[in-house]
Amino acid sequence: MEFLNNFVLPQSAEHIELLHYMLLVVLFLFIPFIGVVFGGVLTSVIYKNKAGKENGKYYFRFAKEIVEITTINKSVGLILGIVPVITALLIYSQLLQNSKVTNLDYLALSLILIIIALVFVYSYRYSLSFNRIFNSISKNQLSDQGVVEDIDLLSNESQRISDKAGVAGIIFLFLGMWFFITAITIPSLYRDWDISGFISGLFYWKVLSRLVLYILFSLTLTGGMVLFTFLEDEKNKRIKDEEYSVFVKQKIVRLTFYSAILIPFFLLTSLFGLPNDSLTGPVFTYAIISLGLLFLGYHFLYMLTKEIKGTVASLLFLTTIFSIAAFIISDQKAMATSTKFHSAILSAQFDKYYAELKGEGKTVQINAAEIYQVKCGACHAWDKKIVGPPHKDVIPKYVGKEAQLVAFIRNPVKVNPDYPPMPNPGLKPNEAEAVAKYLLETYNEKNK
Ligand code: HEC
Repeated sequence: MEFLNNFVLPQSAEHIELLHYMLLVVLFLFIPFIGVVFGGVLTSVIYKNKAGKENGKYYFRFAKEIVEITTINKSVGLILGIVPVITALLIYSQLLQNSKVTNLDYLALSLILIIIALVFVYSYRYSLSFNRIFNSISKNQLSDQGVVEDIDLLSNESQRISDKAGVAGIIFLFLGMWFFITAITIPSLYRDWDISGFISGLFYWKVLSRLVLYILFSLTLTGGMVLFTFLEDEKNKRIKDEEYSVFVKQKIVRLTFYSAILIPFFLLTSLFGLPNDSLTGPVFTYAIISLGLLFLGYHFLYMLTKEIKGTVASLLFLTTIFSIAAFIISDQKAMATSTKFHSAILSAQFDKYYAELKGEGKTVQINAAEIYQVKCGACHAWDKKIVGPPHKDVIPKYVGKEAQLVAFIRNPVKVNPDYPPMPNPGLKPNEAEAVAKYLLETYNEKNK
């Protein structure tokens, strides 16, 4: 990732702040989306395997519907699953530019893993539809033996794809999330991050506690989303099978309950894993908001165990998503504090770079006549006394002694008792040099 470091420019303080906000938006989009895809595919694969073994009549249908709800469609997968990671990569490469501690390797790997994962996930999703189509074709009605063989072949093939792609999707998605969580944990712990090995970073307890936290959040959110969509479908009479819908609700409420109940523990562990001086007021405030929303979510979950209602399910989904958002803000506040020093260095580098761009600090572009007009012209003229002596009287003694003239201009001393002392005009060394040259050249011109 060295090339990214060389590729980006130093940033101004305002730009760094803007990058922090952009990062928030990126995380708001990416974390809930990838979490729901993960939760959805995981539950889907589990129930699909159960369908194979126990032959429960609803398992397969449940597996198929759950993955359809949570993965939305391919373009959403691209926009919410891949674009944010690329953006995060660009943002972090600017925020942590020239820093010894970096998260770009983890991020880049996470990008690759997630792209692979999504290919598997969408193949899995479509293969389930094919499975169902093939299973529903009744072969007795087909007279052509060749067609029956083809159908068997394709049916087995799609069965094989869905078996493999589902599991592969989960594994790659899990790894991708793990690398991503590691990448976003590093800046939050910035000054305390003393893990040197790439692998040991992944297994650092502070990273693992966040990973578990985000996975629990993902499962809770998946539960809320699936439940809500099912209830909507039921309301709109798309699902007519009473028994099936009872089955779905039971399974989902249970999944949501077990994952949600463990969140506070990991949230607090992650919070107290932060460096002490990052635990500022806002970090705590947003963490408490996150917990508060979660407890509100528990309340809705409890209501759902009594009676399952669409509005309550949507409230559960919303409180969970806002709870995640509040935790992300809290964590980003911690990151801003943690990297404050590095950001200051970057914006100082920016100021220097910008000054050079404008030509300040370079002798060639200094306009001596202009400086003279502004800084000296009020007190001096060539052959007239203003506040200071006329230059035609004082410059001759400096001919051939440019360095002395420079020294006087930079640091005037008392010379002539007839005049008040000259105040320090406050020129930079190179400016004083240019003005001295300019005065001596003028003298030469006039005395040709
Ligand atoms: C606020 C008025 C003021 C400004 C501005 C000012 N000077 Fe002077 N300058 C004086 C006075 C007064 C003296 C006489 C000081 C003395 O003789 O002790 C003087 C003296 C000098 C002398 C003669 C020193 C000597 O050895 O006799 C030079 C050369 C000179 N100024 C150059 C400059 C240049 C170049 C600038 C602009 C960068 C400048 N001055 C800006 C008031 C000013």
